[in-house]
Amino acid sequence: KGDPRLQGISQAIRVVPHFPKPGIMFQDITTLLLDHKAFKDTVDIFVDRYRGMNISVVAGVEARGFMFGPSIALSIGAKFVPLRKPRKLPGEVISEAYDLEYGTDCLEMQIDAVKTGERALVIDDLVATGGTLSAAIRLLERMGAEVVECACVVGLREVKGQRRLDGKPLYILVEPR
Ligand code: PRP
Repeated sequence: KGDPRLQGISQAIRVVPHFPKPGIMFQDITTLLLDHKAFKDTVDIFVDRYRGMNISVVAGVEARGFMFGPSIALSIGAKFVPLRKPRKLPGEVISEAYDLEYGTDCLEMQIDAVKTGERALVIDDLVATGGTLSAAIRLLERMGAEVVECACVVGLREVKGQRRLDGKPLYILVEPR
């Protein structure tokens, strides 16, 4: 946490009060994407952490995991696997539901994307309850992959201090106050 790049990353994330609903302090990573240094620092920190760990799969969560995952995958020599919202992926898929504040949602993965024994990293922009990442972990494990870690740019305070998710390590760059 002593990395001097983290402050710049934190400052590049815009906080939008009452979006998309009253009372929500939205952590907007689009401003991070507009800031070349902060965006590159973000990807570099993940790449430095995960290169040399024999990871063959970077699985990104729709939609904002798609904005970080492919760059990391290319740099560490892994493939990128999109975990998508329902009915977006063709072919045979497996699904995992997860709870939202009101109701449930679902992530899907193509069954031929990952093979038994592959080592996977799950990436998303943000973790709040961890429900989304838990569904991602279940998808990969159902196909026999080993989830080495989950990584997010932002961790909300609900999970502060909690560095594991369903028994998997959780790596977070910044925690808004
Ligand atoms: C946000 C965020 C994570 C998820 C985290 O996605 O990008 O994927 O919520 O919440 P959790 O830890 O409580 O599960 P959102 O549901 O807004 O979907 P989107 O990225 O497709 O807009």
